[in-house]
Amino acid sequence: MLNPIKLANKNFLSSLDLSTDEVLNIFEIANNFKNKKININLQNKVLGLIFDKSSTRTRVSFQVAMTRLGGTTIDLNPTTSQIGRGEPIKDTARVLSRYCDVIAIRTFDHSDIEEYAKWSTKPVINALTDLEHPCQALADFLTIHEEFLDFKDVVLTFIGDGNNVANSLILCGALLGVEIRIACPKGYEPNSLVLKKAYEIYENKDLLKITNDPFTAVRGANVLYTDVWSSMGEESQKKEKDKDFLGFTIDHNLVRNAEKDAIILHCLPAYRSKEITDEVIESKRSRIFEQAENRMHVQQGLLSCLLS
Ligand code: CP
Ligand code: NVA
Repeated sequence: MLNPIKLANKNFLSSLDLSTDEVLNIFEIANNFKNKKININLQNKVLGLIFDKSSTRTRVSFQVAMTRLGGTTIDLNPTTSQIGRGEPIKDTARVLSRYCDVIAIRTFDHSDIEEYAKWSTKPVINALTDLEHPCQALADFLTIHEEFLDFKDVVLTFIGDGNNVANSLILCGALLGVEIRIACPKGYEPNSLVLKKAYEIYENKDLLKITNDPFTAVRGANVLYTDVWSSMGEESQKKEKDKDFLGFTIDHNLVRNAEKDAIILHCLPAYRSKEITDEVIESKRSRIFEQAENRMHVQQGLLSCLLS
């Protein structure tokens, strides 16, 4: 019988809050949930959701994941709770952890989620900050594992902004020993501290490369991944970024230069004709909607490990 392992860290704020074994355990549990081979009961457990930014996938996949586990969720809308009126995080966190068993938060500054975690006595999950999107990275690597069956020899090329999604891919990729290449315009490289931490984990430092040339980066790649050029909170930079990212669209021509078996991933929402073409999203190599589904399965695994 497969059991969720108790995680060493109370919180999941960063991809690096899990060990390699913990990530693999979550994948195994997620896979068992997906194939209806496991039943974990989190009856009476409550997940509080705080979303300071918009969300479709993360919000709904957490709600459904918790429902499937027998628990419930409370959606704490910042505009109708005192959060939006500026109640200090340290007060909100101490109060919510007396009602809820776990709290998932989507916000801007990563330091804010660290502040929640500092004051909460219950686990805090990062549902996206400007720095990281670790739940997304779990679903991404589960999708890759389903396709290639292991991570050995898999080359993942991310084309676009060195943003939260790229940062978590790099860190989770380092834990799993996956070769990661990031192709971004000059000035849009991933966070330097994230890169430093990742290089410390990789035994073979050549497995992580940052380049400004998408065509070199896709040669030999098995996974092509992209995300929006302007993330939530960057609306005022949109015009400038659209210009800076010209030439970084995943289109048919770029896909042709990758491996024949290459799959396409995108965390969604996608802006067609910007970071990716409609043709590529709808192509037979796309695993984008399997990837979105996997958000729910890995989060069932994560919640089981945090609450069991
Ligand atoms: N990928 C993702 O996190 O989507 P949402 O913004 O819809 O939650
Ligand atoms: N980088 C994007 C991801 C959306 C899921 C953003 O932060 O808006």
